[in-house]
Amino acid sequence: MALAAELIRRKRDGERLPADELAELVLAYARGDVPDYQMAAFCMAVFFRGLDGAETFALTDAMIRSGETIDLGAAIGRKVVDKHSTGGVGDKTSLAVGPIVAACGVPFGKMSGRGLGHTGGTLDKLEAIPGFRVELTTEEFLRQVRDVGLAIIGQSANLVPADKLLYALRDVTATVDNVSLIAASIMSKKIAAGADAIVLDVKVGDGAFMKTIEDARELAQMMLELGKHAGREVACVLTDMDQPLGHAVGNALEIRETIATLRGEGPPDFTELVMSASAHLLAFSDLGVDEDAGRERAVAAVQDGSALAVYERWIAAQGGDPAEDALPTAPVVREVPSPRAGFVRAIGAVDVGMAALRLGAGRRTKDEKIDHAVGVMCLAKRGSAVETGQPVAEVHARDDDSAARAADEIVAAYTLGDEAPVGTPIVLETIS
Ligand code: URA
Repeated sequence: MALAAELIRRKRDGERLPADELAELVLAYARGDVPDYQMAAFCMAVFFRGLDGAETFALTDAMIRSGETIDLGAAIGRKVVDKHSTGGVGDKTSLAVGPIVAACGVPFGKMSGRGLGHTGGTLDKLEAIPGFRVELTTEEFLRQVRDVGLAIIGQSANLVPADKLLYALRDVTATVDNVSLIAASIMSKKIAAGADAIVLDVKVGDGAFMKTIEDARELAQMMLELGKHAGREVACVLTDMDQPLGHAVGNALEIRETIATLRGEGPPDFTELVMSASAHLLAFSDLGVDEDAGRERAVAAVQDGSALAVYERWIAAQGGDPAEDALPTAPVVREVPSPRAGFVRAIGAVDVGMAALRLGAGRRTKDEKIDHAVGVMCLAKRGSAVETGQPVAEVHARDDDSAARAADEIVAAYTLGDEAPVGTPIVLETIS
């Protein structure tokens, strides 16, 4: 193959690389034949010079070929749907969408990742449930999707190993937030994991990779094209991440909020996002319904208790205790009073995420242990009117010192003003 140094030079100088040379570089890296320092330099060259559509297809395709792939539809004998989020603060959407979709009779099988930075990922949230097993064999995973209708597990080591290496490298070399690299990373995993139809939740705002709607549109369009190229149906919902999603940020707190939402008692923004994603997934399914009818079924599954019943069956099937009072609780709960009267104009999502991380809800390095009980409840959301001294948030902490520090950080994360801000819907737009 062309020397890695040569490909780095050509990309650094803005050249378009042929698909076979790009593929060889990625596959050689996955085999351990190209060292981290050269791949890091290559990612930085890509960060500045970008990849065009053909290069991004080639990268995605090579990453998929670096490991095994699953044909979920063939294994289950049904059309299988999946959802993925680009990641945000307080994002527990899959945990509520899975049971709703499964309760409507559509199999939902998802392989998920752990979080790094801000707060825990979906697997970390699930591990807040005592006994819950995220490691199932592929056989156990498929059997559970068939029998229970729902399984969420850790990504198998053989699925897109090139991304596992590359994502970890990008994470420590400031090369994560490039549209082509993100699109290839996410879509290689989604395509290899084998769902027929995928709903992608692209977060936009302070707490997201994509800070502007224009960048989010570009990422959505790229992922849509990669999915269609691989023969998958894809819809992207662009959603607001300028404040934490729902109230809860922190692993056990987010599981509690999920259960409340499945009971029909969730926060309005989170409930709307869950219903919107569920409606898209049901419209993609083999039920033969459109999005409006899908939404009606999703709402009915919450109202008649069937979504909550599926949640309980699913958690028990993976060894967990579905009872809410089995979840860990933090020893210190401290209210965060508003320093003044007014309207909440903004809540810095990253600031809240970082406060939760420092409480122990997230990890700074991949080996750090997570404290599942701690986190933040953002009681007052953007647009709420608050009085002086009224609690705008609650800090759930391991001890008084960390609670006091987090309370100061949360006060600083809230921006209060004299006028209510203009309302923003949770779903900003849909691209399909
Ligand atoms: N999530 C991923 O899986 N990959 C990225 O590159 C960014 C977010």
